[in-house]
Amino acid sequence: MAIQWFPGHMAKARREVGEKIKFVDLVFELVDARLPLSSRNPMLDQIVQHKPRVVLLNKADLADESQTRKWQAYFESLGYETLACNAKETNTTKAVLAKAKRTLKEKRARDLERGIQARAIRAMVLGIPNVGKSTIMNRLVGKKIAQTGNKPGVTKGQQWLRVGNELELLDTPGILWPKFEDQEIGKKLALTGAIKDQLLHLDDIALYGLEFFTTYYPGRISQRYGLKIEDEQLPVPDLLMSVTKKMGLREDYERASERFLLEVRQGKLGRFTLDRADEQESESHDEAID
Ligand code: G4P
Repeated sequence: MAIQWFPGHMAKARREVGEKIKFVDLVFELVDARLPLSSRNPMLDQIVQHKPRVVLLNKADLADESQTRKWQAYFESLGYETLACNAKETNTTKAVLAKAKRTLKEKRARDLERGIQARAIRAMVLGIPNVGKSTIMNRLVGKKIAQTGNKPGVTKGQQWLRVGNELELLDTPGILWPKFEDQEIGKKLALTGAIKDQLLHLDDIALYGLEFFTTYYPGRISQRYGLKIEDEQLPVPDLLMSVTKKMGLREDYERASERFLLEVRQGKLGRFTLDRADEQESESHDEAID
């Protein structure tokens, strides 16, 4: 469920997450592998500071694998461990645990030298709404965690959930806001279903999606809707008209847009990645926002 973010929410979420961060050894930053930058919180570096971090590129089953590999390389170049995962899969737990242990290996070896015995790693899951925080926590913990209702921030007092003997998770995820001031990011979030459709016009999101697919995955639109490949050269409003006709919806562009978006989100147009690793600017995404 998408939530509306206001300056008050943001300040509260930032403060609460900032307080909880003190109690953890490690942060799992969850992003949507289809939008590894657009689904990040713009102030995460400032919030997390220097805590060791594992970037989990979740929903990797829906993303373009070659792009995911490039994004992993990008995050690794920033010094983070990364994992491309599907929170719904059983083997995700083992892989996440291995990444957590690898991230803290050197620190733990130093602690041991100083006579500090290893205890379970304490971690928290952070991310914007809809990236799969609850799903992955349920997976790791092996049961359904309490519903947070996607309210900003986390509850008072620390409760730890055990993941075997080696990892403990803070019982509620840290919910942060996306960088939605940017129109392009807003459309990307909408196309994947990360923000409510009511926030933007359905046909605007559909047109954005058509433009995206014809640019980066030519042939998919024509194949899915039985059009000629040349039709993909049409201006996108004309392409939407053709798709609508093929769907048998006459001139109901609203319904056609709705159906198209559903199909994109369900992966019916294939795996895709909206943030293109090859096109991102060299500067870090984590620049401060004013
Ligand atoms: P959040 O806590 O970060 O807000 O996200 P949540 O776990 O609620 O997940 C949001 C949606 O994403 C859910 O779908 C969930 O099933 C789906 N999801 C989470 N991780 C993955 C993944 O790795 N791969 C895929 N394909 N989907 C994932 P939903 O439609 O909202 O609910 P439901 O259909 O599961 O009931």
